[in-house]
Amino acid sequence: MSERKTHVFHRNARVVPPIAVKGDGPYIIDADGKRYLDGSGGAAVSCLGHSHPRVIEAIKRQLDAIPYGHTGFFTNEPMEKLAAYLAENAPGDLDMVYFVSGGSEAVETAMKMARQYYLEIGQPARHKIIARRQSYHGNTLGALAVGGNEWRREQFRPMLIDAEHVAPCYSYRDKRDDESLEEYGRRVADELEAAIETAGPETVAAFICEPVVGATAGAVPAVPGYLKRVREICDRHGVLLIFDEVMCGMGRTGHLFACAEDGVAPDLLTIAKGLGAGYQPIGATLVHKKIFEAIRDGSGFFQHGHTYMGHPAACAAGLAVQETIRDDNLLANVKTQGAALRQALEARFGNNANVGDIRGRGLFIGIELVADRSTKEPFDPAKRLNAVIKKEAMARGLMCYPMGGTIDGRRGDHVLIAPPFIIDQSHITELVEKLGDAVDAALAA
Ligand SMILES: Cc1ncc(COP(=O)(O)O)c(C=O)c1O
Repeated sequence: MSERKTHVFHRNARVVPPIAVKGDGPYIIDADGKRYLDGSGGAAVSCLGHSHPRVIEAIKRQLDAIPYGHTGFFTNEPMEKLAAYLAENAPGDLDMVYFVSGGSEAVETAMKMARQYYLEIGQPARHKIIARRQSYHGNTLGALAVGGNEWRREQFRPMLIDAEHVAPCYSYRDKRDDESLEEYGRRVADELEAAIETAGPETVAAFICEPVVGATAGAVPAVPGYLKRVREICDRHGVLLIFDEVMCGMGRTGHLFACAEDGVAPDLLTIAKGLGAGYQPIGATLVHKKIFEAIRDGSGFFQHGHTYMGHPAACAAGLAVQETIRDDNLLANVKTQGAALRQALEARFGNNANVGDIRGRGLFIGIELVADRSTKEPFDPAKRLNAVIKKEAMARGLMCYPMGGTIDGRRGDHVLIAPPFIIDQSHITELVEKLGDAVDAALAA
């Protein structure tokens, strides 16, 4: 524990973290001059590292022109351009973009928009949201209510709106030996149909899920066919499908939108993190044109809004980030370096008796740790293995994103790896070496 005096209410009330003073590509440098390789993009945010001149210049230019104009009075150029870019590249008919300042706000927007859509089209009974266990959709009360992580929800339970939770698509733990990946995917998707029928289809507004589950499960992709089946079930019952791509979207999996790999388009899609790459706080909800048209031709007004939505400096940052990803062909680098990183992790951890699973897509990789590889028995949560790994990694100058509660919100440990898209082989070597040492030290502790 640091003795440094602070008036900041930090995330951990007992720990004052090091002071970040400078960025250098994929490194953060602290006030003592120590360098940290950003192996997790913070929490899968910093996809362009920490000193990208094009993004910094775009923000400065926007501040010189006009720093802020409330969206109740004005639109602005970077917001219009970024919306056009996203709509042009989005799957399906996600033609309209509602800007906010982060992931939780994007999820709240999607939930409220789903509800208002059904009011506009004359189905006022539809209000329920179904989600999945072991998901994370944000910490505001609405997003927390649909999130499926027990540890995060528990103490706020009396304040949360009702939400149904169905099984995640978590093949490492839940697929039976006698079923194929596809059969497993169908079985868990069919839980959604049962939940809709139990709730009463005429009362269900939306199903929300992360195409690749991030923070709470450690980069768990859907199995082949699962999301297609989910789409069919939603269509059959007139339920809107919301994909939460706050963490897995914006190129992290090697596709600008993670769901492209599954060939499925939702009705609402949330993004944040990699949208502005941490250079500015920004999130967005992409909206199917039928939802926009229902509101435009109905009441004409979406009953929502935030003070900083469509902030010009944030949109200028988002636009510069997305144009950099396009112009520098970084999605190709995500695929190439993602495969190289995966290979290096498998070489380092493949024979480790405490590494149960290495999974993910692109530069979004999860390593699940187990006490026993054959039974998949997790470590005793009291060991706080994930916290010890984080501490050991930071001591070695590596940021990674370990988390506990992988299995059910209480048991299980994983490490999430999500480095910037600009990394090369030398960064991969450093990342894997430092992570290997940190995991060894934590297991030995
Ligand atoms: C999938 C997902 N949704 C929503 C959020 C919430 O985003 P924010 O922390 O920007 O509010 C997160 C954050 O980790 C996330 O991973």
